[in-house]
Amino acid sequence: MKCAIVGCGVISRTHAAGFQQIPGAELAVCCDLIPERAQAVAQEYNIPAVTTDYKTILNDPEISAISVCTDHASHADIVCDALNAGKHVICEKVPGRTPEDLARMVATAKAHPELVASGIFQHRFAPGNIVLRDLIREHRFGKLLTVNLNFCCLRTDEYYQKDAWRGTVAGEGGGVLINQAIHFLDQLRFLFGDVKNVSARCANLTHQGVIETEDTAAFTAEFANGLFVTANATNSAFARWRSALTITGTEVQIEFINEKLSFLDGKDPENTADIRNRLEAVDHDGKIIGKNYYGTGHTAQLADFIAAITEKRAPEVPLADAANSAALVHAVYAAGLSGKWEPVTNYL
Ligand SMILES: NC(=O)c1ccc[n+]([C@@H]2O[C@H](COP(=O)([O-])OP(=O)(O)OC[C@H]3O[C@@H](n4cnc5c(N)ncnc54)[C@H](O)[C@@H]3O)[C@@H](O)[C@H]2O)c1
Repeated sequence: MKCAIVGCGVISRTHAAGFQQIPGAELAVCCDLIPERAQAVAQEYNIPAVTTDYKTILNDPEISAISVCTDHASHADIVCDALNAGKHVICEKVPGRTPEDLARMVATAKAHPELVASGIFQHRFAPGNIVLRDLIREHRFGKLLTVNLNFCCLRTDEYYQKDAWRGTVAGEGGGVLINQAIHFLDQLRFLFGDVKNVSARCANLTHQGVIETEDTAAFTAEFANGLFVTANATNSAFARWRSALTITGTEVQIEFINEKLSFLDGKDPENTADIRNRLEAVDHDGKIIGKNYYGTGHTAQLADFIAAITEKRAPEVPLADAANSAALVHAVYAAGLSGKWEPVTNYL
């Protein structure tokens, strides 16, 4: 199956290396507005053709699938154009920079049920997350009482000044929540389902004069299943990338740091030992392509995308599902501005 990458910046290399490992997938062309970027990726990954105009890819009947690796503002146009041109498409997060972009992308995907449309949330393919989700589905923690998510990383002024789109409302659509913490907002949805309402505060604490968007945020979410989740996120910390999830149930308390078990206590020794065994048996050492905090999931998700096309089935992360996680981010922004509880749009 001939595939294309649109956008040849930082993340494109993780996609290119991922596609190379998938039997039956062949990267035929890559595209960037900046020709040198497309040429560099083509050279590094042996991709035979380059272009600066993604529409030439859409007009090529040989290309079946497109991976969208551009910055946030262009995702909606490229995804919708690709679907309308009959191409299967997988789009990097965030699926929509604005609620309007999201609605347009989901409507276009729904209008093309014959095509596979997927959104990248590669942490759903992290083995630890999958086992944790299974344990939750098996009600192994008892009745779920509280969940807390704490995320931190460091994004310096230099990081933001490197590319014009970063840290702008028009280019990025937000700050720490829409770019870095979104993986763990998606993890919350992966584990606990959809969110109904949020209340929030967002602030720019250390990047004033550099970015228009938030570098720090805190919110409370009411999930559709009645669960209350509190979350906070900052990219101003003098700290490595760290996501910490604490789940307290009537039977078990568990803490997950960077998708690995870090604390476990439970009422029933047998249940607790079994949970520990299953989480400790997880293989965390798969092949990481790109930065280590991207995890091992990109190749697995790209393989699922290609398999979904071949098997004519839905992908593990349909675009509308990814859109729900972006909608959560947009609801947090709305709540931060209004000071009120805001509803979260659910597209599924
Ligand atoms: N899943 C992850 O862990 C992960 C990690 C990093 C980035 N990302 C996402 O990947 C996307 C890209 O991020 P990045 O860091 O690689 O950005 P980047 O700025 O390094 O690269 C984006 C590239 O897209 C190109 N581009 C923009 N509009 C285009 C168009 N219309 N046609 C062709 N090329 C176009 C730009 O010239 C640029 O080279 C973002 O959505 C980001 O959030 C995801």
